[in-house]
Amino acid sequence: MANALKVTDLCKTYITNKRQNNVLKNVTFSIEKGEMVAIMGPSGSGKSTLLYSVSGMDRPTAGEVMLDNKVITDMNEKELANVRLEKMGFVFQQCNMLKNLSIMDNIILPAYELSKGKKERLEINERCNELMRKLGISDIADNDITEVSGGQLQRACICRSLINNPKVIFADEPTGALNRDSSDEVMKEFNKLNNEGKTIMLVTHDMKVAAKCSRILYIVDGNIKGELNLGNLTVKSKEKDETVIKDMHETVKDRQRRVNNWLSEMGW
Ligand SMILES: Nc1ncnc2c1ncn2[C@@H]1O[C@H](COP(=O)(O)OP(=O)(O)OP(=O)(O)O)[C@@H](O)[C@H]1O
Ligand SMILES: [Mg+2]
Repeated sequence: MANALKVTDLCKTYITNKRQNNVLKNVTFSIEKGEMVAIMGPSGSGKSTLLYSVSGMDRPTAGEVMLDNKVITDMNEKELANVRLEKMGFVFQQCNMLKNLSIMDNIILPAYELSKGKKERLEINERCNELMRKLGISDIADNDITEVSGGQLQRACICRSLINNPKVIFADEPTGALNRDSSDEVMKEFNKLNNEGKTIMLVTHDMKVAAKCSRILYIVDGNIKGELNLGNLTVKSKEKDETVIKDMHETVKDRQRRVNNWLSEMGW
């Protein structure tokens, strides 16, 4: 399998009040195309810093990141900004959509930034409509971002992250601000996208979220302390078939038990 991401000896040091804080210490790992990898670990262990350093939102102090077999860590700001726009999608815990634009306008904005003419913009609008249909939020397209539920807003953020058809989606606690039902809905969308082949790297504190990922990396004090390979979770489309739902429920429960035991070993 080809690597979507290859991270080698990544280091990140912050200097605050003249004191050096080595947050990431030679972190090395790869994510294959089509994997959905969860990053877990105690608060302050460097999970967000890792996500930001890998995705070029923040500059690592040392080390190398390859996205789709291209080194991105030696790119200049402009090149990196383009790679982020064209090849990466981002979802955060708190939605960072613009208040004076509708949900649909927010979703299409990253694509309009790359577009050249009217024809292309019409195609983008169509793509946006298709994504909103897929994620079940067509009816809120014209709403203001304050006029939707937390779960709907997060699904809109996922649509926005997908509008330029990225190679990898990066998500920092995408369900962190949601209740259990909305969190399950959002995870279902991530699982469906992953089943279609999207590569996803997400940070989470939620064991139930991690249990739906294909692999978990556990970070302590800026190092990967352990790794659990669960394999991809296949989300069945026949939602009305009760036996299928029951099987799925059992599979998820079984994965949760494995994750729970493993996290105890990790000292979670
Ligand atoms: N911009 C920054 N400047 C200085 N120090 C920072 C900065 N961002 C993070 N840190 C420090 O880096 C360390 C790791 O922070 P990080 O946000 O990556 O942790 P985390 O694992 O995501 O935690 P949480 O689970 O609470 O979100 C912390 O000690 C934090 O104080
Ligand atoms: Mg964090």
